[in-house]
Amino acid sequence: MGALPTFKIGDLEINLIQGGMSVGVSGRRLVSAVANEGGAGIIGGVALGLLHGYSGNYAKTNAKALRDEIRAARKMSDGVIGVNLMRVLSDYDNLAEAAVEEEVDLIINGGGLPLDFPKFLKGGKTKSGVIVSSLRAAKLITRKWEKKYFVIPDVFIVEGPKAGGHLGFKYDDLINGTASSLESIARSVVEYANGLDRPVVVAGGIYYGGDIQKARGWGASGVQMATRFVATRECDAHDNFKNEHLRADEKDIVLISSPVGMPGRAILNPFLEKIDRGEKYDFNCRWNCLRTCNSKKSQYCIIDALVNAVKGNLDKGFAFAGTNAYRATRESCLDSDGKFITVKTLMKRLGDEYSRGQISL
Ligand SMILES: Cc1cc2nc3c(=O)[nH]c(=O)nc-3n(C[C@H](O)[C@H](O)[C@H](O)COP(=O)(O)O)c2cc1C
Repeated sequence: MGALPTFKIGDLEINLIQGGMSVGVSGRRLVSAVANEGGAGIIGGVALGLLHGYSGNYAKTNAKALRDEIRAARKMSDGVIGVNLMRVLSDYDNLAEAAVEEEVDLIINGGGLPLDFPKFLKGGKTKSGVIVSSLRAAKLITRKWEKKYFVIPDVFIVEGPKAGGHLGFKYDDLINGTASSLESIARSVVEYANGLDRPVVVAGGIYYGGDIQKARGWGASGVQMATRFVATRECDAHDNFKNEHLRADEKDIVLISSPVGMPGRAILNPFLEKIDRGEKYDFNCRWNCLRTCNSKKSQYCIIDALVNAVKGNLDKGFAFAGTNAYRATRESCLDSDGKFITVKTLMKRLGDEYSRGQISL
């Protein structure tokens, strides 16, 4: 029996960060359950208006849906609730404004360099996090923020090459195994962040509680975990999506070239096999939702694929996943009634694994 150690981001005290998972994988149910167990529950902030079937101006409806999700999560928990935003979103400004107005505890910026983010903060209580995959990016963001806005990030989240979703590394480096390891990037960012008196959180391949212990040995304050939270009862995705994680063997977890222009890690399925064979899915680009997406050249619409997947239609989509997703099995993730384990059970397990020093890294 054991509890996870806590750490602070400004005045927020948490035991871990549950990584934001778009589209709709980490919504009100998952984030409130994590927040109720002492973690920071992070809503995936991408295209929620589309997921909820809102019509009308996309930027307005996505921001409204994000507000709905934040308010609903707040009703279910008094704990720490945040939002993950991708800087490459074309409606990023509307979403950042909405999240700050809703006074979320934390906004975590991923997918691109959030060089202008502090302009949305307006001195409110919301803390700022940045996801980086190199010391260079951490320094660049910090220097820009400090020079123009006289602030620096409240927390650095170092995401390594084993993470799920879109990745901040070159595709070739990931395939060839030449991307820097999480440990080496983390150690360099920790040294830098110590000088700024800021915590560092590490992400990507953290699966067992003992991995948290290992990360703390590198000087990190704590971890961000996403994949392990997919196969839980409260995860907001359809069971078909969660079952993809149970089905996956190590060989099924693959790298893709996302239409976003970044590599991504996902579970191979017939949809991705068709893409790999060069097939094209017809789609209407409703709005250029990702500034880096070239919809004319894309074989499919990534947002459509992710919305289909989270709704359980894996024929027309796929599930993102970190390298450790194959560790999720029926035995480890289903309880005696055949239901997915609750977040409460998972958090208790993580505490026990922490005490035992059980590791995957
Ligand atoms: C299904 C899924 C969706 C994700 N969506 C996002 C996202 O929208 N924005 C983001 O910055 N990271 C996203 N990620 C990355 C996670 O937030 C997290 O940093 C990473 O997966 C950590 O590695 P782990 O999955 O091995 O724990 C996603 C990951 C998964 C598995």
